[in-house]
Amino acid sequence: MNITVRQLRVFEAVARHLSYTKASRELHLSQPAVSMQIRQLEESAGLPLFEQIGKKIFLTEAGQEMFHYARAIDQQLRDLEESFANLKGLHKGKLAISVASTANYFIPTLLGVFCKRYPEIQVSLDVTNRKTLLHQLSANATDLVIMGQPPADMDLDAQVFMDNPLVLVASPEHPLANQTQIKLESLATQAILARERGSGTRDALERFLQKHNLQVKTSMEIGSNEAIKQSVEAGLGLGLLSLYTLEMELKLHRLVVLDVEHFPIMRHWYVMYRRGKRLSKVAEAFRDFLVKEARDIVQI
Ligand code: PGA
Repeated sequence: MNITVRQLRVFEAVARHLSYTKASRELHLSQPAVSMQIRQLEESAGLPLFEQIGKKIFLTEAGQEMFHYARAIDQQLRDLEESFANLKGLHKGKLAISVASTANYFIPTLLGVFCKRYPEIQVSLDVTNRKTLLHQLSANATDLVIMGQPPADMDLDAQVFMDNPLVLVASPEHPLANQTQIKLESLATQAILARERGSGTRDALERFLQKHNLQVKTSMEIGSNEAIKQSVEAGLGLGLLSLYTLEMELKLHRLVVLDVEHFPIMRHWYVMYRRGKRLSKVAEAFRDFLVKEARDIVQI
């Protein structure tokens, strides 16, 4: 018997719908094209596969046999595709990613969706600050790095996948908390709790102050977003933080975002690796997933 996969797929659709019209709509083919495929299939089989009674069509006994095998063949072709995907390394394997501390507030959500899709992938996640990430990039010590602004002096392949607004927060009791349109100059007398040197958030703050020629009291240097939030709540000063870190505190009104001119400082999240590095299929799939889907999955 000389039949093609295309004929089988057309037959399967007609048999499932018991309608040439519905099958042609599903397959985006004209109705005469569908009828012709079925006629050729019947010629190869040497038996009629459908019979028409009144306005309806039914499967003949041969048609029922064909339907059974057509489905089984289709399933086998899908299995083959799946097995090729495995051979290409897409569904199995290891993924090592290193992310900036702040990215830790949304990366687990994204990994959750990705790993559900590819349950056999083993992920190792390193959460560290920008300085360490730069070392890892230059030592080629990880598959992908996720952080803000890629450094200008490294040859990297970097793609933006989400925004990262940095805001100034205060405790609700702070004198600036209820003010609107706060001028930048008002910050000059304020203590700002800054992240440690080497953090991307800290870099952004320093560049911002320099650009606006502003001196503030960076009264304390604090090595984590969580510790900054606690200190701001305790009234030790204002904090500069990514909006991604603040979901709970803003909901519970433990902290408020200040309405200061030129804020938020808009940074972006990048996924990057050293140019020339050969990405594994898994790493490629994760990078594409971030670029195409992260914005819809993580919302602030
Ligand atoms: P950080 O990084 O958590 O080290 O501040 C954030 C960033 O790179 O924007």
